[in-house]
Amino acid sequence: MKRKGIILAGGLGTRLYPLTRVTNKHLLPIYDKPMIYFPLTTLMLAGIQEILVITTSEDLEKFRALLGNGSQWGIALDYAPQPSPAGLAQAFVIGEAFIGQSPVALILGDNIFFGHGLPDILQDATARSGVATVFSYYVADPSRYGIINFDAEGRPLDIQEKPKVPKSSFAVTGLYMYEPDVIDIAKSLRPSVRGELEITDVNLEYLKRGELEARRLGRGFAWFDAGTPDALSATSQYIQVIATRQSTRIACPEEVAFYMGFINAKELEAQTKPIADTPYGRYLTEILERN
Ligand code: G1P
Repeated sequence: MKRKGIILAGGLGTRLYPLTRVTNKHLLPIYDKPMIYFPLTTLMLAGIQEILVITTSEDLEKFRALLGNGSQWGIALDYAPQPSPAGLAQAFVIGEAFIGQSPVALILGDNIFFGHGLPDILQDATARSGVATVFSYYVADPSRYGIINFDAEGRPLDIQEKPKVPKSSFAVTGLYMYEPDVIDIAKSLRPSVRGELEITDVNLEYLKRGELEARRLGRGFAWFDAGTPDALSATSQYIQVIATRQSTRIACPEEVAFYMGFINAKELEAQTKPIADTPYGRYLTEILERN
């Protein structure tokens, strides 16, 4: 079965208040694009073409207006409301019918990944079966994340959610690949002390079963979670510098769809025409000419 994907774009975005008073966090700009374009294209680069966007009931129609049914990018997009934020693992309960018997990737809507060779790593993990995969990243502020520590052979030993005294500096990033049994695991969870169904508890269950693989994203990769004003601004600046220096735009669904073979040159051209006079349209025209 082909792996499906879920983007979790709910939450109240309270750390970004008042930016998030009337705008869902995942619609805020990261330099030149709405934030959700980044996790969306990460899943597309992983080769995933069936994607469920989970967001608040209030914001659902805005996401649908922005992204549509995905056919323009050769993918299928579906939407489901998260009535109230009860933790990341709730995504698998909400997404039960969508997931069915398929392996599934979950990406948090504010997680931004960038780096050379990322598509290969993602596609490799997408194709694995029988294991759950998480991606770890060395960070300066481990108390803010789920933290994983390893034995001498690099096998995962333990994961702790936002530990006061971290056992390592390796954060578990917000991209997870699971087997279809994740639905049952999520359903069996009890809320944590902060009242949430924790994704860390899902990972701990796979770890206990000996079915958790943790891949390190090394220093050649950039990983951001853009959930605070500082992180939002730093991520925007990073993406801007790369984009202007290399004259490439990051997280264009049209370009990624074309690169992945989800749409052909003719289809890309048809989408470019109506916006040909905009900077974005001119970039897409350039993509067509480069190929
Ligand atoms: C969540 C997870 C945490 C993970 C982080 C990655 O935290 O609970 O384990 O490291 O995402 O962005 P949150 O940012 O929702 O507090």
